[in-house]
Amino acid sequence: MTQIDDGSFDTVLVVDFGAQYAQLIARRVREAHVYSEIVPHTITAAEIAERQPAGIILSGGPKSVHVDGAPALDTDVYDLGIPVLGICYGAQLVARDLGGEVSRTDRGEYGRAELDRVGSGVLLANDEPEQLTVWMSHFDTITQAPEGFAVTGRTPATPAAVMENAERGIFGVQYHPEVVHSQHGQDLLKRFLYDAAKCRPTWTMTSIIEHEVEKVRAQVGSARVICALSGGVDSAVAAALVHKAIGPQLTCVYVDTGLMREGESDQVVETFQRNQGIELQHVRAADRFFDRLAGVLDPEEKRKVIGELFIRIFEEVSGGIDDAKFLVQGTLYPDVIESGTPEAAKIKSHHNVGGLPDDMDFELIEPLRALFKDEVRRVGEELGLPPEIVWRQPFPGPGLGVRIIGEVTLERADLLRKADAIVREEIKRADLERDIWQVFAVLLADVRSVGVMGDERTYGHPIVIRAVTSDDAMTADWARLPYDLLERMSNRIINEVQGINRVAYDITSKPPGTIEWE
Ligand code: XMP
Repeated sequence: MTQIDDGSFDTVLVVDFGAQYAQLIARRVREAHVYSEIVPHTITAAEIAERQPAGIILSGGPKSVHVDGAPALDTDVYDLGIPVLGICYGAQLVARDLGGEVSRTDRGEYGRAELDRVGSGVLLANDEPEQLTVWMSHFDTITQAPEGFAVTGRTPATPAAVMENAERGIFGVQYHPEVVHSQHGQDLLKRFLYDAAKCRPTWTMTSIIEHEVEKVRAQVGSARVICALSGGVDSAVAAALVHKAIGPQLTCVYVDTGLMREGESDQVVETFQRNQGIELQHVRAADRFFDRLAGVLDPEEKRKVIGELFIRIFEEVSGGIDDAKFLVQGTLYPDVIESGTPEAAKIKSHHNVGGLPDDMDFELIEPLRALFKDEVRRVGEELGLPPEIVWRQPFPGPGLGVRIIGEVTLERADLLRKADAIVREEIKRADLERDIWQVFAVLLADVRSVGVMGDERTYGHPIVIRAVTSDDAMTADWARLPYDLLERMSNRIINEVQGINRVAYDITSKPPGTIEWE
């Protein structure tokens, strides 16, 4: 399951009780420069002991500890001598398992709460304010801490909001220190990590890079490695990291499908070939893609056609690279976590471009397997990749193909490319690029509407502007872009892109919509 914990870094295991907060906790721990990993709550004490973590954090969970079938922890974990911090549901488990009391209150506690510090301890030290605003989300509450535990914080609804048995190294906090709304929450986590679990803060970008570079060298030896660059952040950072490790043994392949955004191919060549000095095979395959896409209207069919052709071309090119034994993939930690859970319903067939089939005869190198997206970006910066690549928004593998509603042709791709470039340019000018998860244009190629420009009647296609905010693309909201910004985009698109005479703004969230149109 893991990649990193070979003793190079102190590890904290985050036991997942089904909360949306487990990933957030893991990220906060890493922000404190301690490596963390998420494990399922079914993990046994023996399995934990084998991993030799420096500390264990029990995450929140949606259920009450009193419900039948509520997820539990192997109680031998408390006797391993490894410091444990329970958060929310995790704290309630600690209370229940060690002889305290968890009761149903009549109202629960959701959102902001005022916490009174009553005494001091490891989690809430003397230098903390006597009152803190914290973020709560629970119905049951800890009414009585177990014997041997000191209570150092309480709220009107929760008599034991922070409790600890420092001697045994067991701690519980009813609120969510990992969310930004909890004052000094990160300080509390750090005190658990540094003071209780004695973790060394060595998880830094520099040490991650050094560690991965060593691993790649050991794995590859003197063999040849190839990497499919998509223009996206993940494959770019993976390639730069592997290049740092093995230099000229790496060959990158960039397949230009003709469905890229404006200026994208030039930028990939410029960054990798010229700046990083990576050997790059730039395959200009637009004609082949447009040929195959002729007459294809169904979105899933489009994805299939683009994905299959991409793989065929990649195979052709990689077959010509002698002795290529290894393939670099930009797999990230959230992909690793997600592939360990029961598969979610298939909404769209994703990752069909750049995601190469399993039966290809390569051994995989996945240097980003342990990293969250924000860490990948920081590694990329540290490796000297330009901000335009490191901070690039996600872009679907099938590219503009799934943003042309109707048949995909070169002319239509060119039209969309122009409109899309204007949208992105205006967002950049308004300095909103990093606040928005994705912003792009969609061409309704099979729709036409009547308009008037000057004295002339027009009959052109509409462009839809799509801009969403999101944390993980699983859910998204339409971005409340300023009207004057939308107006500038609309004016420019209609004036500068011939064939477009109408612009609409998509105000659908996800769900019920998806981010892409196809
Ligand atoms: P949807 O449209 O399903 O997209 O809300 C969620 C996220 O995934 C991206 N996306 C893709 N990424 N190959 C990819 O690598 C694909 O085929 C693909 N389709 C959608 C989309 O841009 C959004 O970030």
